[in-house]
This record gives sequence, C-alpha cells and structure tokens, in this order.
Amino acid sequence: MSDNTANLTVGGDSKDYAIMDGTVGPQVIDVRKLYANTGMFTYDPGFTSTASCESGLTYIDGDEGVLLHRGYPIGQLAEESSFMEVCYLLLNGELPSKKELADFTNTITRHTMVHEQLSAFFRGFRRDAHPMAIMVGVVGALSAFYHDSTDINDPEQRRIASHRLIAKMPTIAAMAYKYSVGQPFVYPRNDLSYTANFLRMTFSVPAEDYIPDPVIVDAMDKIFILHADHEQNASTSTVRLAGSSGANPFACIAAGIACLWGPAHGGANEAALNMLREIGTVDRIPEYIARAKNKDDPFRLMGFGHRVYKNYDPRATVMQKTAKDVLEKLGVNDPVFDVAKELEQIALNDPYFVEKKLYPNVDFYSGVILSAIGFPTEMFTVLFALARTVGWVAQWNEMISDPAQKIGRPRQLYTGPTQRDYVPVDKR
Ligand code: CMC
Repeated sequence: MSDNTANLTVGGDSKDYAIMDGTVGPQVIDVRKLYANTGMFTYDPGFTSTASCESGLTYIDGDEGVLLHRGYPIGQLAEESSFMEVCYLLLNGELPSKKELADFTNTITRHTMVHEQLSAFFRGFRRDAHPMAIMVGVVGALSAFYHDSTDINDPEQRRIASHRLIAKMPTIAAMAYKYSVGQPFVYPRNDLSYTANFLRMTFSVPAEDYIPDPVIVDAMDKIFILHADHEQNASTSTVRLAGSSGANPFACIAAGIACLWGPAHGGANEAALNMLREIGTVDRIPEYIARAKNKDDPFRLMGFGHRVYKNYDPRATVMQKTAKDVLEKLGVNDPVFDVAKELEQIALNDPYFVEKKLYPNVDFYSGVILSAIGFPTEMFTVLFALARTVGWVAQWNEMISDPAQKIGRPRQLYTGPTQRDYVPVDKR
C-alpha cells in the first residue's frame, strides 16, 4: 500500500483506493469504485465509519472534545461572539466586518414576519399538540407561501430561502408556544435583537410587555450558538438527504425538524430534564446510575454519551457555566441543578461511564437553564430546531453547490426471501 492509496484484496483481486485528506482529522478511503470493482457494498449501519460528504463548515475532534465552526473554537464563539455573527460565519465562511454584520442582521430582522395566512395553520392543530409536531407541519408549509425562493438551482433564491428560514423560525417557534398556552400571537419588533425579539414574542402578552433581561438574552444567545451546527449529525444528514433529491429548502428543513425530535437526538434535552426531575433528590442518584448500567433495563442517562465525543462535550462546559449564571441572576434555587452536578460527578467517577467514555453532552444542562427562563419542557427541542436551522441551511447550501453532489441512495444487505411465486388467497 502506498502513502495515498489503500489496497483491498477481494477474491484474490487487488485494487487500490485513493486516500483523501481533509485539512485536519481522519483521512478517508474513497470507496466509490468498490462496487464496480468487486460487486460488493460496504456495510455500515449508523454510518459509524462512513463520511457521507465533504464539508468545510464544522470540525469535531471527539477524542479531544474539540468543536470548531469554520475553524473557530465553540468556546470562543459562545463567549465572545453573537448568534447573528455565528450565522453569518456558517453561511459565508468568514467572520463579517462591522458593516457586513449590520447588513446581515438588518436583512434577518426584516424577514421575521410570517405570511398572515400562516397563523390559520396553527389553528388547525389541537391546543395540546406537541410544539415539535406543529413545527414540522408549519415549517413544511412555508414552501406553499414563498414560491419565489424554492428554485434550488438559483443561488440568489437559495440565499433568500436561507435568510427567511433563519428569520422566521423564532416567530414560528414563539407562535407554537403561544398557541399551546392559549395566548394571542405576538408580532416581531424590529428594534430588538434576534434573541430579545424571540423572548418577547414568547413571553409578552397584550396586557403586559416583556422587557428582556440582558443576562437572559445573553444566555439564550449562547444556547443558540451552542446548537448552531454540529457536522453530519442525524438531522443534518436528513436535511442533506432530503435536499439531494432537489426538494425545496422548506421541505428539507421540515424533514430535519422531524429527525431532531427523537430522544436520541434533539429530544434528549427534554428527556434529560424530565429524568433529573424524576430523580428529584441527590440520594436517589445511585438507583438511577445502577439502572443505566443494567443491560436488562432500557434506561439510559439522558444528556450523557455521544456518538462522536469520547471526552467532555465542549458545549456542555459552556452550558454548565451559563446555567449557574442564569440561576444566580434569577435567584432560582432549583434542586434539579444540584442533582445534575452531583449526577455528573458520580457518573464521571464510575468505571462503567469511564470505560465507555460517556460524558455529559450539550443537553445535560440546557434544560435547567431553559426551565429557569420559563420554557416548558416541550419547547426545549423547538429551541434546538430554531438554533440548528442555520446549520441545516448552511449544510444544505454547501451540498447543492458541491459538484460531487448526487442524490443520496444507500445500498443494503438484503436478507428477505428470495424470489417465489404468488399463491392466490384461497390456496394459502
Ligand atoms: N447511559 C448509559 N449507557 C450508555 C449511554 C447512556 N446515556 N450512552 C451510551 N451508553 C452505553 C451503551 O449502552 C453501550 O454499551 P455497550 O457497549 O455495553 O452496549 C455503549 O455505551 C455505547 O453506546 P451506543 O448506543 O452504541 O453509542 P451510540 O454512539 O450509538 O449512541 C447516543 C450515542 C447519544 C445515542 C447515546 O449515548 C445515548 O443514547 N445517549 C442518551 C441520549 C442523549 O443524551 N442524546 C443526545 C446526544 S447530544 C445532542 C444531539 O446531538 O442531538
């Protein structure tokens, strides 16, 4: 085997496969000719060893606990940047100048209103519908409203669709919340920042305005930054796969939202807080640790473990500090935060979690913060979807612009019956 090829011998026949280099991270073996050469597929359920695309957006080193967006460490972005700036960075590849940021923010601000007719969609749902169910439906419905930005072959239409999605998602998320609590929808206001505007649309009522507290706005903005993108995770891969057929961007993002909803993915923040509440007090932690370790019990510590991170999730570090700041600022003494900190300590010292390299992930502390701010648990995944929208559209756009892009079409190892003849029902 030479330096830049991998040699594979199948049935005595040897062939070289190119090894491709990224800028950093593992090399990949280009197996695109494998089937033509051997008549065999690779088998990799869950894509544990398969790179599905090239991407220049986000890099993760799971062993070291590193997360970079366009090269910038997530800790620096969360501490020093803003969500609007991170959106620009993900979409355009570079940090904006002052003017570029002002222009971008202005564009997003001026796209936050939704077509008035869209509010009728909400009224078709039951009041007790899960807001993620509403999000899947309403975001998918955007393609019926914004026809002038659904031609995916036109870069300008793609740009407009991306801006629309980022801008309208907070409005739609706030409407989903308002609908569930039976309060009137609140229109966006252009004099507020992206995040302050979202908080106001969520928490103000006609009888009383909501003046967003800068500490809460800052915490929420950090949470948005921490969720903005995360490489080829399940929902992003779903968006790419849906988009690979040429589907319009609104439909693709609706597909991403549907995937994100699952408890192994974005739904874990809701599940983590429910779990912490169920544990309730520090003395009950050992019982839950024992359950998590028991092979016969399907219970898992929610907010723990990650497919890629085999070290502390760098987003969880920022999240834990933000939780402390928010609880202090609000004067909230939530026993759930104590349970979370103690559970983390016990798990980090338990051989089961140490050996399997299971660490807290982004979802472990986010629920504590969101609950202190006033969000019901059902809204947690909606907030994740809101923030991840920029990652989804940036990845979708990158895919459409990639000359190597093809419709996604995995193959399979068939294990069903071989061909057999149909038997009429009266002869069976
Ligand atoms: N609690 C107890 N055991 C666990 C946990 C956990 N949270 N996570 C993994 N394990 C065990 C698992 O049982 C397995 O043990 P064994 O090797 O003996 O069979 C081993 O660790 C490896 O787990 P896996 O399921 O093969 O790993 P995966 O990469 O397929 O799953 C995961 C990753 C995130 C789905 C999983 O760790 C999990 O279910 N965690 C809880 C849900 C969660 O917090 N999800 C949020 C992920 S971060 C946000 C996001 O990206 O959406």
